[in-house]
Amino acid sequence: MLLGATRFCVEVVRSPDGQKVFSFLFKVKMLNIILCGAPGSGKGTQSQLLADKFGLQHLSTGDVLRAEIASGSKLGVHIDALISRGNLVPDDMMYGVIDNYLRTLPKDCKGIILDGYPRTVPQAESLTELLRKYNMDALMIDLMVDEQLLIQRLIERGKVSGRADDNLNTIRHRIAVYHNQTEPIANYYLHQGNYFAINGNHTVDEVFLQIERIIKLAKNQ
Ligand code: AP5
Repeated sequence: MLLGATRFCVEVVRSPDGQKVFSFLFKVKMLNIILCGAPGSGKGTQSQLLADKFGLQHLSTGDVLRAEIASGSKLGVHIDALISRGNLVPDDMMYGVIDNYLRTLPKDCKGIILDGYPRTVPQAESLTELLRKYNMDALMIDLMVDEQLLIQRLIERGKVSGRADDNLNTIRHRIAVYHNQTEPIANYYLHQGNYFAINGNHTVDEVFLQIERIIKLAKNQ
């Protein structure tokens, strides 16, 4: 079973006279987590808590896309049309975002949390390939929450969030997109022996405790 995350890094050092070049291969133990779940399942909330507690870098693909929209770029206008209707952004666009993120991680990075990526089976396949390219791996943790609770949470957030997709019609569509396009990735990770489902119906603290238990297991492996 895939339970750890190790990255191999190469450091290149020149001798003081600049004549010789030495390269060192060293292992960096990382804690990398893929946090998956339906809209409103608590991915963002739990990612922030994990980032704070374990010193991890948090990548929310939703935040990256909203930043592009806020920039007012042509691409942002295109993304806005998709997100505000509750549809996914094309896989090839997301591939570039993740590749760039992994390539530019700082050397001393303790680990990463991918919040909202992957969301389709092709994205999951691409991620496996990308993680391999950067000598990394990651635990997949899936937050399972009842549909009524998802809707309740997002309607409540919609009162203050200002998010164009936090209204009942779009929430329902986002949940349908999740069932059709994202849920199948559970099977993909199950086949890889790297799948941990969590009951996300509980309080924020209780859900966090469950995630911590999985991380402890992974660290002891
Ligand atoms: P994204 O921003 O990721 O939105 P989402 O997946 O719909 O998730 P949310 O942010 O709505 O919910 P969450 O699970 O993070 O829950 P949160 O912690 O915020 O993506 C937006 C859009 O971008 C997508 O629809 C798509 O168009 C596009 N996109 C993004 N990634 C993509 C990709 N990889 N490929 C293609 N397109 C992509 O919590 C929600 C609320 O509940 C909060 O108010 C919170 O305080 C509350 N809450 C959380 N946990 C609990 C709890 N345990 N008990 C009570 N309340 C709780």
